[in-house]
Amino acid sequence: MTFFRANINLNTRLKIEREFAFDQKRIYNSASSLSIHKKLWFFSFFFCSLKSKTKPDMANFTLKVNGTTHQVEVEDDTPLLWVLRDHLNLVGTKFSCGIAQCGACTVHVNGNATFSCVTPVSSIGNSEVITIEGLSKEGDHPVQKAWEEVDVAQCGYCQSGQIMTAAAFLDQNPSPSLEEIDNAMNRNICRCGTYHKIREAVALAAKTK
Ligand code: FES
Ligand code: FES
Repeated sequence: MTFFRANINLNTRLKIEREFAFDQKRIYNSASSLSIHKKLWFFSFFFCSLKSKTKPDMANFTLKVNGTTHQVEVEDDTPLLWVLRDHLNLVGTKFSCGIAQCGACTVHVNGNATFSCVTPVSSIGNSEVITIEGLSKEGDHPVQKAWEEVDVAQCGYCQSGQIMTAAAFLDQNPSPSLEEIDNAMNRNICRCGTYHKIREAVALAAKTK
């Protein structure tokens, strides 16, 4: 059965490729019998119609980010991460896996740690978004201070996501056990392996908060 299906698929594919090649040849032949001006018109019309068919549907969104209201015009399934980085120039939030597996892109949406790489901008509505740039004015949030004190960062790539996760967690659980810290932080990956220092810094921030 699988073999039969594979044959059908192969034959179908060959047929489609032959028809596509035939279409291309027909378009080329029609074009080559025209004068130079008509050829130019023919090709610009051909490519413009292709472009207009693939033009995405854009929409306007009003977003509250770090206490400021922003207007952006993007496709409604654009991930929040791309809006933050490419449209609002808030590049402290990092792209890594893009599939909700590492936590590098973590921001707060209404106080909850959220993976912005898989959050469509259309789902934000009136929610308040906070990025690492808006966590504190002077970089002096208790979690940031604890991070410095413990000297957590190595390459630093994952760190804004780690800090945002830790800050949201401590807002919800101000006196966590070490086990609760590990559970809260286990969705944020650090390829430099700074996990023991992350745990120490979150525990320190909980004491000083
Ligand atoms: S980049 Fe969003 S979870 Fe990895
Ligand atoms: S400090 Fe390098 S990935 Fe975490």
